[in-house]
Amino acid sequence: LEMNKGFKPGFLWGGATAANQLEGGYNEGGKGLTIADVSPGGKIRMKLLRDDSYPLEIDTANYTYPNHLGIDFYHRYKEDIAMLAEMGFKTFRMSISWARIFPNGDDAQPNEAGLAYYEDVIDELLKHNIEPTITISHYETPLNLVKSYGGWKNRELIGLFEKYARTILERFANKVTYWMTFNEINTGVMGSFFTLGMRNESVNNNFQALHNQFVASAKAVKIAREINPNVQMGCMSIYATMYAYDCNPVTAAETMEKNRMFNYFCNDVQVRGEYPTYAYSFFAKNNVTLDIQPGDLEVIKENTMDYLSFSYYMSTAHSSDPAHSEGVQGNFFGGTKNPFLKASEWGWEIDPVGLRIALNDLYNRYGVPLYISENGLGAIDKVEADGSINDTYRIDYLQQHISEMKKAVEIDGVDLMAYTSWGCIDLVSASTGEMSKRYGFIYVDLDDEGNGTLERSRKASFDWYKKVIATNGEDL
Ligand code: BG6
Repeated sequence: LEMNKGFKPGFLWGGATAANQLEGGYNEGGKGLTIADVSPGGKIRMKLLRDDSYPLEIDTANYTYPNHLGIDFYHRYKEDIAMLAEMGFKTFRMSISWARIFPNGDDAQPNEAGLAYYEDVIDELLKHNIEPTITISHYETPLNLVKSYGGWKNRELIGLFEKYARTILERFANKVTYWMTFNEINTGVMGSFFTLGMRNESVNNNFQALHNQFVASAKAVKIAREINPNVQMGCMSIYATMYAYDCNPVTAAETMEKNRMFNYFCNDVQVRGEYPTYAYSFFAKNNVTLDIQPGDLEVIKENTMDYLSFSYYMSTAHSSDPAHSEGVQGNFFGGTKNPFLKASEWGWEIDPVGLRIALNDLYNRYGVPLYISENGLGAIDKVEADGSINDTYRIDYLQQHISEMKKAVEIDGVDLMAYTSWGCIDLVSASTGEMSKRYGFIYVDLDDEGNGTLERSRKASFDWYKKVIATNGEDL
């Protein structure tokens, strides 16, 4: 018997991004509009996107749209990829924007300019020995599918997604091994606009939309394996370790119920291939009746995932005791304030130990390789007079999380295949549309109003991460 010593050879170190948050070029190359293109910048973003009276149009007289420019990766990807290669990246997680391929989501023919663009990006990565990891849908559903079809509650989206997935898989599945279907699919449990393309709808519609995504995802997995049996297909959920606030068994049971609908439900369907029985009791309690058509459950069962990926930024605590009613916010969910943790400038409670717990929890439950597809600290960076950026707080955050990740591998025996920190190059925030909330090793000179030279520079964390990768996580 042997313990694991360090991260396995070939461990996929890298960084993660999404097309809508870094590409820009929102109306170039034949691209159609996506839901991200009508999402305004600033802290008001989530509030507006939950308000169904907010028009889903571009309204530059009243709002800014930082996603339109992104960080101009659309034109600068060569320079950016060279910098990622300098850090020694083994993988780069990116998404394909559906509307670059099918501008309206339901077009008869794909847009060749969009396919050619991604082909160039993928080839550039491969040239530098960086394996792409591609998310097929990352918060960028074509706007037309929201306006004319009502978003994911409409079953027609399954076929449209299948066509889109088939198009990109036929083109790229022989070059790209690692794929993820839907980003943070479980945010749909709470009815997220980004995930479902729907606002303020019934619990029934939210779960119907998720069901449609489960079927669409399973169909994409099937297509990918038919094209290339060596592809590695993964699901992607947001995971927040959830603690019972006290040792009252009643709090523990409540936490268990909350936890499973949030942290397990989608993974159970996508990795185990079945709706868990607790979901049926949740549906009964919430008057949810799903339209499940013949063949749906079979396709879900037959096309489960090779690996499970998740984003991890924070943990939450649960209490229904009014004495502990002080809340905290995360990007998609909040909870009771945890007195043992400090929060980021955006109020997300930082919890490296919670990552070790998450890895154990998920590996013990599913037994498939795990891929940490996002982790990182959103912070305001200061450029010194000499141009340097001393982001020691970011190094501390990542160092602590990677240390716990190492314990999960060495002490606990978790099979971990990859770590891609979020926003490896500064990009537009998803929840607030801000540039000032930065995650990168690479600084981009651009502010919230769109002013700046767009020049790239290396932060202190750049050299640190380079060393981490070069030593396969030994020198933190
Ligand atoms: C995840 C998303 O929720 O968190 C990313 O998958 C997002 O798209 C990331 O950017 C960080 O959140 P934010 O709001 O700080 O950008």
